[in-house]
Formats: sequence, structure tokens, C-alpha cells
Amino acid sequence: MLALSERGKKRLAYGFWRFTADQVDEAIAMIERVRASGIDHLDTADVYGGASGFGGAETLLGAVRAKAPRLLDGAMIATKAGCAPGTPYNSSAPYLKAACEASLKRLGMERVDLFYVHRPDLLAHPAEVAGALDELVREGKIACVGVSNYTAAEVAALKRFLKAPLIAHQIEFSAGHVDPLFDGTLDQAMAEDIAVAAWSPLARGGLAENGPADLAAVRAALAKLAAAHGVSPNAIAIAFLLAHPAAVTPILGTTNEARARECIDGLKVNLSRRDWYDIVEAARGERMP
Ligand SMILES: NC(=O)c1ccc[n+]([C@@H]2O[C@H](COP(=O)([O-])OP(=O)(O)OC[C@H]3O[C@@H](n4cnc5c(N)ncnc54)[C@H](OP(=O)(O)O)[C@@H]3O)[C@@H](O)[C@H]2O)c1
Repeated sequence: MLALSERGKKRLAYGFWRFTADQVDEAIAMIERVRASGIDHLDTADVYGGASGFGGAETLLGAVRAKAPRLLDGAMIATKAGCAPGTPYNSSAPYLKAACEASLKRLGMERVDLFYVHRPDLLAHPAEVAGALDELVREGKIACVGVSNYTAAEVAALKRFLKAPLIAHQIEFSAGHVDPLFDGTLDQAMAEDIAVAAWSPLARGGLAENGPADLAAVRAALAKLAAAHGVSPNAIAIAFLLAHPAAVTPILGTTNEARARECIDGLKVNLSRRDWYDIVEAARGERMP
């Protein structure tokens, strides 16, 4: 089983949401860069692919594997299924099983390292979802099971039926989106030893200078701490996530080389309690009581 929830170990992942199927050379260059800095966790989903459509981002990783066979050696590939465009969600057992097989084909793999249910399907009984996931594990098609964007109650319901360990919960968590600190998601992850993968760690560009007005206070807090620590605000945004006592892996999504480097610098930053709470208070718009 993947040891993703080891406490005290700082980890980053890189995600392929913003890539299309034909960006093979760009993807190879980015993977070379991030792997050189120690990142070996690569995140994708069947629904990613932008203009290249459903399956495009997985097809891209398959093409990377074909063109640079050694590049993905030892990398942990995570993918997701369950977002069915137009439906919008489907976690029925037949759908998840067929989706997994289609993903493996696109990725050029016999077994994926981590397979997430991308979003909860309110029409799928957790026993059915758990049954499909356990069968995929038994068949050797997935090594580990995760969920994404579940509530704490939905995680508990799935775990009630799932025989395989639930090793990861992928959630939106950033200096611009601190809800998981307060809605029980991170508490559950710590209590149940579930690793947390944080998507959109730069708030989808919202932490940039031209970001939305409601994140102005967060941007100011990040800029102040960046000056004090001698790094970029992006490094502070990543360090903020890494400082949480749950095992949080920020999933970088920038396609820009310099920004990726700034994010990776976040591994070197140790925020004080005061620093960290400055960001939380800026995000909440009020002092902690
Ligand atoms: N499970 C889920 O439901 C879910 C949902 C969303 C994402 N994810 C995962 O999380 C990964 C990361 O998500 P994300 O890409 O949204 O991460 P992010 O780092 O929050 O956002 C990256 C985006 O923000 C832009 N950006 C950041 N700083 C900027 C700046 N200073 N100026 C201009 N643009 C700036 C980037 O543009 P550049 O590329 O030009 O830097 C890029 O388009 C995805 O690849 C995917 O694997 C999962």
C-alpha cells in the first residue's frame, strides 16, 4: 500500500488537468523538471483533457510513456473516474469498472497506483461503490483506493462497506479556500489515517496579483510572509498547506516553469504558528476568537 499519510514528510504532486492530449513534449519537460525536484506523484483523471476532450489527459500520459518509457519509472500515477459529462456523475458499479478499464488502456498501464472516485454520485449506494472498488482491487486493476470531493459523512458511509483501505481524499484546499479546516474533512483524515491531496493550491490563479477582490487580504498576507521568508507568495501558499498536521500533498497545476519552481520552494519554508494563523485569519476575514 502507498505510504502517503506518513506524518512529518513533506510531499508534492503534479496534476495534468490543464494539459491536452497533444502536449506530449510540454508534459515530458514538466515531468522531467518535477521529478528532478523529487516529485513522483502524478495526478490525472479520465475527464481531464481540455480542448482534446474526455480522456485527453490520460491519453497524454500514455503518449509520454510511449515516447519516454523510462520517465515514469517509479512514479505514482493517480487517476479518477465518476464524472460523466452531462449526467453529471456516475459511480454505479458497471460504470466505475468500465471507466477504470478505459483509463488503464489510455494510460498504457495494467494497474493504476491510485484510483479515486472523482465526485460523489448521490444516486449510488455506498455499498455498490465499495463493491466496485474492492472488485477492481481484487482484479489487480487498481493498487489503492481514494475519493475526491466527498463530505466527511460520505467518506464514513463508504468506509462502512469498503474492504480495501481508503488511503486518500482529494479535496479543494488552499490559502484561498480554507473550508476543510473547519468542516471536519481534515479531522476525519487525521482520525482515519487518510492522506489528503489538495487540489488548486494556488486557488486556480486567485492568489495572483490580478486575482479576485475577495482574496485581496489573503494575497496581502502571503506577500508579507513572502518578504519575511525571502521566497515568493506561491512558496508561502504551498508551505501553508504542508504545515497542516494532516498529511497534505498539494497538487501543483501550474504549466509555467518559474511558477512551478516557486511552488517547489514551498518545501523549504517553515511557517511559525503566527505566520500560519495570519493566513487563516486573512482567508476568514476576521481574527480567530
Ligand atoms: N479532484 C478534483 O475535483 C480536482 C479539481 C481541480 C483540480 N484538481 C487537480 O489539482 C491540480 C491542480 O489544480 P489547478 O491547476 O487548479 O492548481 P492551481 O495551482 O491552483 O492553479 C493553476 C492555474 O492558476 C494559474 N495561475 C496561478 N498563479 C498564477 C499567476 N500568478 N498568474 C497567472 N496565472 C496563474 C495557472 O496558470 P499557469 O499555468 O500559466 O501558471 C494555472 O492555470 C490539477 O491539475 C488536478 O490534477 C483536482
